[in-house]
Amino acid sequence: MCGIIARIGEGDAITKLVTGLENLEYRGYDSAGVAVQNGSGISVYKRSGQISELKDAIVGSVPKGNVGIGHTRWSTHGPPTDENAHPHTSETENVAVVHNGIIENYTELKERLESDGHEFTSDTDTEVIPHLFEYYLQDASSIEDAFRKTIDDLEGSYAVAALVDGVHAIYAARQGSPLILGLDNDEYYLASDVPAFLDHTDRVVYFEDGDIAVLEPNGVTMTDLEGNMVTRDVERIDWDPEDAGKGGYEHYMLKEINTQPNALTNTIEGRVEDSEVILEDFPEGTFEDVDDVQFVACGTSYHAALYGQQLLNQTGIRAQAFRASEYVDSATGSITENTLVIAVTQSGETADTLGALRGAKERGARTVTVTNVMGSTAAREADDALFIRAGPEIGVAATKTFSSQAVMLSLLSLRLAEDIETVNAPDDQAELLRELQKLPEHVQTVLDSTTAKRIASRYTGSEAFFFIGRGLNNAVAKEGALKFKEITYEHAEGFASGELKHGPLALVTPDTPVFALFNGDKDKKTLQNAEEAQARGAPIVSVAHADHPAEKISDAFLEIPDTHPMWSGLLANVQLQLVSYYAAKNLGRPIDKPRNLAKSVTVE
Ligand code: AGP
Repeated sequence: MCGIIARIGEGDAITKLVTGLENLEYRGYDSAGVAVQNGSGISVYKRSGQISELKDAIVGSVPKGNVGIGHTRWSTHGPPTDENAHPHTSETENVAVVHNGIIENYTELKERLESDGHEFTSDTDTEVIPHLFEYYLQDASSIEDAFRKTIDDLEGSYAVAALVDGVHAIYAARQGSPLILGLDNDEYYLASDVPAFLDHTDRVVYFEDGDIAVLEPNGVTMTDLEGNMVTRDVERIDWDPEDAGKGGYEHYMLKEINTQPNALTNTIEGRVEDSEVILEDFPEGTFEDVDDVQFVACGTSYHAALYGQQLLNQTGIRAQAFRASEYVDSATGSITENTLVIAVTQSGETADTLGALRGAKERGARTVTVTNVMGSTAAREADDALFIRAGPEIGVAATKTFSSQAVMLSLLSLRLAEDIETVNAPDDQAELLRELQKLPEHVQTVLDSTTAKRIASRYTGSEAFFFIGRGLNNAVAKEGALKFKEITYEHAEGFASGELKHGPLALVTPDTPVFALFNGDKDKKTLQNAEEAQARGAPIVSVAHADHPAEKISDAFLEIPDTHPMWSGLLANVQLQLVSYYAAKNLGRPIDKPRNLAKSVTVE
């Protein structure tokens, strides 16, 4: 959460900083700000609210200068006010800083600085950084030395970029929060994520924890905390700049839902051959020692992990999905040397998931991450990484990445089942892989023929929304409810169908539509559970293939193409994504940027 950008090079920085912030706005949208070095001081502009407010503030007095920093905020310390917006400045305003992360010892540092006469103007933890930097600048041997001393005093997580008045450079450091250097011919960028500068360059360097950099017009120097030079590889990003735009859609979320066929094709490509799963980094036998699998993930990724858990259990492999935030305290004790821990994370930067991953590593587990972001912390810290290749996802509500994660986990599950002697790969593997290859086409059929918009309009304004499903569809029901509440702000819950009668049925009324998901296998019980809700007056919206018995009893029907039961939940999920989208649209919600949320949650 929070996005930072910095830029140094020829020509004015401001337009590139603001565009970069717009591409990072998914990381936080409580306030935004920029600081530009202009030869006669540092100009700082910051506003609470979205980036449009900041843009309004600089119209008419656009700051000049070719080096600058910018920030979009998701509040952790202090409300979203102008004062708490970044950049923060020092006592004499000769230092300006943007920061993503949390300074855990800020109270102690603040007291120290206050006793030295420093006055603070915000409630943030960040403000201690420019004050400290200014303090050390008084008698350090160099600016870099003062910056290093400043960074050395910080505890917690940070990606920091700083300007010093009159100095044509940017000072940057990373510890626990993402920071990426972008290299163009005559300019350099720093950002929390690649889309910030993808219009300008696809050549990047990922900072490691403890890296400190100084960006100057003619080069970048990277060192560690002790001042030793470090060399990092330059990598090329294979995302198209177009991937980071809305591509003509009204919202990123709608674009991301509609581009799922392409995302899924990329996830599957090269990983299936006839009736075999080929995972480049995992040759035959790689998993033969695995006794059990533990998934760690949050939010939507946790629902994908539940999908994975169900698949592995069906194959006879012991597996459990854990909410990453609960994992270290409750589950690491069960790790053995033959436990495989799979961290599922779109961003690869979710603090809870990284905490769980690190906890698993400390206990000696073998780790794999399933992620969308190359160079992310999870990709670098796990023993192995499997990339879902879904392309950048900007809408805060995850859509295409859920589908791609579920497919990636399915492929991984099949690969595990091939290696572990005590279990058998499914009898119908050839058939299910054939159907997997048709999945992008089936998703396209859903997108082309959906009646989700009409159904969303029919039920918008209901008191609450329930989603039920059994087996793999339990995960999809939970994901459907999360998506619905996240972007509509309406009450929604997802249940295992059979659980409805054990309590939640008390909530069911004629004003609570129940979305029932059928996957073409063992559907009888779910049908019965749907009828139990209907008997209490609830409208039933079934999601199933054509001519399914559910159609007859339903008040509304969302059709999905007939496919293998392993994949039908993913088609149902696309219908539910669309229902959520249109319901949120009817309610006038800010779909891509739901209140209080951020795309990447980098605090625990
Ligand atoms: C999904 O719609 C949410 N925005 C959220 O639950 C998200 O899935 C969660 O924060 C995990 O993020 P990650 O996949 O990047 O780790």
